[in-house]
Amino acid sequence: MNAVLTSPARLKMADTSLTEDEIQAAVAVLRSGALRQGKQCDAFEAEFAALAGARHAVSSANGSAALHLAYMTFLQPGDEVLVPAFTFIATGSMVAAAGGRPVFCDVHPETFLLDLNDAEKKLTARTRALSPVHLFGNPCDLDAAQAFAARHRLRLVWDAAQAHGARWRGRELGGCGDFVAYSFYPTKNLFVGEGGMTCTPSEEAARRLRGLRSHGETGKYLHAMLGLNYRMTDVEAAIGRRQLLRLEAMLAARRRHAEILRRGLEPLPGLHLQQVLPGGEPGWHQFCFWVDEREFGCSRDQLAQALAAAGIDTGVHYPRGLHQQPIFRELYGDQSLPVTEKLAANILAVPVHHGLPAGGAERIVAAIAAAGKKK
Ligand SMILES: Cc1ncc(COP(=O)(O)O)c(C=O)c1O
Repeated sequence: MNAVLTSPARLKMADTSLTEDEIQAAVAVLRSGALRQGKQCDAFEAEFAALAGARHAVSSANGSAALHLAYMTFLQPGDEVLVPAFTFIATGSMVAAAGGRPVFCDVHPETFLLDLNDAEKKLTARTRALSPVHLFGNPCDLDAAQAFAARHRLRLVWDAAQAHGARWRGRELGGCGDFVAYSFYPTKNLFVGEGGMTCTPSEEAARRLRGLRSHGETGKYLHAMLGLNYRMTDVEAAIGRRQLLRLEAMLAARRRHAEILRRGLEPLPGLHLQQVLPGGEPGWHQFCFWVDEREFGCSRDQLAQALAAAGIDTGVHYPRGLHQQPIFRELYGDQSLPVTEKLAANILAVPVHHGLPAGGAERIVAAIAAAGKKK
């Protein structure tokens, strides 16, 4: 009994609990009976646009839809889009869903972000867009990506699904490029259940996004475009609006935890932490590093087991590159991307979220250091 009472709480990978205020905001919408996309969505879009530094923000059913809608506005069949291979499936699959072809590029070994040198080698006459990912909330170099896109006359579509609240040289990320797509999936920095947002500086693009998310309807039962039903509901929007009020506090907690993890783990031989570019202010969606088994003394999987035994959950984001996914191998054939493959085999994420209890980050550092010492 005593052991149960004194054993420290399990540290999970995410805290997806809503506050009482957020629950009440959802309940008020449920009571009103106005469940579909309506005033709450309009207000959430305006408030999110202000936060993200965007001119227009268009809500949708999820982050994948937010990307898909962006591509649907301009992609032609067979157009190629340069994407990093080390990311979540939707970064590539939404290009394919819109009729394009994702072209997988390797990532940088220290930042884990799209390597523009590799992207340059993969340009063809069919390349229409560049789509970098602010992976784990770690901002890419906006200026370099913008210059690359301008030099090669490409659209710039950002996958910012994991990067709410991150900044580049003091700028919000939502105002850069042609489209910036966010997700509000429960593990994300801002979470409403399912939801997404596409930001754009173009009024015309915003109009098309709004049409495409609602069956291309331009009047009652009048359809000028082939669209989808990708609408968010007012229930999620009401939660999102309330949660925006605590986003800064949640981000501050993530940054505090990340700093403790960074200071504790950086000196350990054999752990290679995701590096932040000078000018980047991450949102710390995930805290990731890769494990050099020989130097550290045990493998990524052995470390994960040791942490599980110490009551600490971990995650592997991602166990394979997009080019290693069966569906993409089938569609586009075999390809070798060495940095992505090395990361996929050795990467580990530890909890960094806003809900970690006091002392939680220190406990993670101590457990990792102990696992490394055992050899
Ligand atoms: C990098 C990235 N892109 C796109 C998405 C898709 O977002 P959603 O799950 O809301 O569809 C996610 C969500 O996990 C993601 O992490």
